[in-house]
Amino acid sequence: MTKKVSKVVFPAAGLGTRFLPATKAQPKEMLPLVDKPIIQYGVEEALAAGCDQIIIVTGRGKSAIEDHFDHSYELEKLLEEKGKTDLLTVVRQISDMIHVAYVRQKEALGLGHAVLMARELVGNEPFAVLLADDVIDGPVPCLKQMIKAYEETGSSIIATQAVDGPAISQYGVIDGKTVRGKFGGRLFSVNNLVEKPKYGEHPSNQAIVGRYILTPEIFKALDRTPLGAGGELQLTDGMKMLLKKEKIFGYNFEGVRHDAGDKFGFLRATVEFALKRPDVGKQMREYLKSKNL
Ligand code: G1P
Repeated sequence: MTKKVSKVVFPAAGLGTRFLPATKAQPKEMLPLVDKPIIQYGVEEALAAGCDQIIIVTGRGKSAIEDHFDHSYELEKLLEEKGKTDLLTVVRQISDMIHVAYVRQKEALGLGHAVLMARELVGNEPFAVLLADDVIDGPVPCLKQMIKAYEETGSSIIATQAVDGPAISQYGVIDGKTVRGKFGGRLFSVNNLVEKPKYGEHPSNQAIVGRYILTPEIFKALDRTPLGAGGELQLTDGMKMLLKKEKIFGYNFEGVRHDAGDKFGFLRATVEFALKRPDVGKQMREYLKSKNL
């Protein structure tokens, strides 16, 4: 029997330089896709996967995230007085949604370092890491698919997707072998991992996407991991260290991933989510059609 995965770590201390000036005074995690902040999509995915303990690794200038998942007394009172019960429900649901703990990453020293900051809150149990920038729209929530693979293998699981062409060098990449006869060929046994390989030197086209299920051994591995790409402590390098002790699997999840940390990815996600919405979907479709591009 594997231990249940109930905690999800959200690294959210990054500076969001790709979205300046929008992110000068507000966290990139709070940029909305239609009307919901990016990070809330991730939190809802965690809940849908049965994980109800959220740990957010924050930094300076990120207090809007804490406020978002807190009660908003004045706003709720105002909505109540005005009889706007639908909006009141929406606002209350956000704060009632989760148990959330915050830990500060004082310096942006990399994703591996951010995960290490959550060590005490996670304790000695398997946990998930979710990068909110990677918004995944799947028939089954991505994290739920991965937890199933974790329960079957008892090992750490990394989400992957095929990326072709030079863009592969923007990712961590796995060198893996398909596990036959399980999960419809979606599971890979990992032999090696490389963070941001040069195009042409990449070990495969299976890029790491921002979802991980990790065993607590990762903390000891990260302790021993030297700084890597960009002079940062990389989670990919930590997992490479972990691989010396434990098996790791890649999981080519089912669903569409939007890179909401990238300008075009963000715009595409906005359009895709808007088209699916009952309140603005029809208008959006008609507008796009009217453009005759
Ligand atoms: C991080 C990880 C990388 C992964 C990517 C997915 O990189 O280090 O391995 O492929 O997220 O979004 P970043 O995008 O922070 O440079």
